[in-house]
Amino acid sequence: MLKSIILAAGKGTRMKSDRPKVLHTIFDKTLLGYVIEAVNNTGIAEENYVIVGHQSETVKEYLERNYSGTKTVLQMPQLGTGHAVSLVVPHLKDYTGEVIILCGDTPLITSDTIKEFVGFHRSSKADLTVMSAIQENPTNYGRIVRNSDDMLEAIVEEKDANAEQKNIKEINAGIYCLNWGKLSNAFLSLSNDNAQGEYYLTDIVKWAVNSGLKSCVYILKNNEEVFGINSKENLAQATRYLNDRIIKKHLINGVTIIDPLTTWISPDTEIEADTVIYPSCYIEGKNKIGKNCKIGPFAHIRGGVVLEDNVKIGNFVEVKKSVIKSDTNACHLTYIGDSEIGSNVNIGAGTITANYEPLSKIKSKTVIKDNVKIGSNSVLVAPVTINESANIGALSVITKDIPKNSLAITRSPLQIIADWVVKKTKKI
Ligand code: UD1
Ligand code: CA
Repeated sequence: MLKSIILAAGKGTRMKSDRPKVLHTIFDKTLLGYVIEAVNNTGIAEENYVIVGHQSETVKEYLERNYSGTKTVLQMPQLGTGHAVSLVVPHLKDYTGEVIILCGDTPLITSDTIKEFVGFHRSSKADLTVMSAIQENPTNYGRIVRNSDDMLEAIVEEKDANAEQKNIKEINAGIYCLNWGKLSNAFLSLSNDNAQGEYYLTDIVKWAVNSGLKSCVYILKNNEEVFGINSKENLAQATRYLNDRIIKKHLINGVTIIDPLTTWISPDTEIEADTVIYPSCYIEGKNKIGKNCKIGPFAHIRGGVVLEDNVKIGNFVEVKKSVIKSDTNACHLTYIGDSEIGSNVNIGAGTITANYEPLSKIKSKTVIKDNVKIGSNSVLVAPVTINESANIGALSVITKDIPKNSLAITRSPLQIIADWVVKKTKKI
């Protein structure tokens, strides 16, 4: 088991946003959430420390609500990455095990890579392991400086690098594994005598080398995993990278995705084989989609959705927090929210479950039992239950529970006034 430190105190000026950088989202999960989950899913982290600073209250509140076991350490002011980690030293005074350090703005890192990285650290019997990557354009990253024996010597930041060092394409990915018992003293002796006047975490490398500790480098194969978010442009790029990864997984698992470029699927959506996703669908949040379903084109699945097998969610249909049982169709222009829908139900075009009362802000549930048929353009005003095999006439507004096998209809009777046009014209 090990402990993790996740750096998340920085301001993120280039995001041009009032929101703290690490709380920006990809689908509806925050950047910080991705990093914490990647660490937690390794199964080897017993405790996570998140360094908070900029808008610390907002970040802390978010963590308490979503990742309650996480510890936070306040860094105020933010004097650099080394300063950030040094603030954890008093919390881990008697700890001598391993610590992994990551950044809260690299959401694409995977649990598998973290596990492999820690495994490499252990099998190399290293005291400090740095994750590196080879970048064709290394600008702005810290560079990995090796000695004549190819061993790690130092990390030099872009702003402190000489011309020769700037040509190095091996960069510091910003992820470290260290034997805390041997390295924690390094944080007490960092200096800010550098181009940025900051306490650099990267200076622990020189300290380890000078102290005769074993320092190793793990070269990451897939650069994309340490793609850092510094701007809205980066956020959009990372969303695309993550989506490509998810789409590929579903294709391998036997899901048919007609157009990977316009299909967006959140990482927490499960889809069974032989379901077809048509172009231009947006699927966010946690969902479970069964076998042989048809989704889209132009469908929006907003999270908390369970679709059993053979369900059709067609064009311009939005579904959130709902369970829809097998063989049910909602093929066109429909909103289904906070609903429980049975098997073999047909939801006509333009049906709305009116689940939200804006004055009281109360959301209510719609229950539709097996074999129900809902006529087009109906509004089901929740809370409401439509019992087994009932039929709702087109254009009805349903405000009461409907007993099974009955027809409910609120439409005003059709009137036909013969020759109305002719009479009207004569009067003029
Ligand atoms: C850092 C590394 C650089 C590496 C790069 C990889 C240092 C000195 N440099 O540079 O070698 O190539 O990451 O992405 O570490 N943070 C705090 N407190 C602070 C400063 C930063 O918590 O006082 C947090 C930020 O919120 C961010 C992370 O640390 O999550 C990295 O900080 P950032 O300023 O982005 O470092 P880089 O310049 O990218
Ligand atoms: Ca950065």
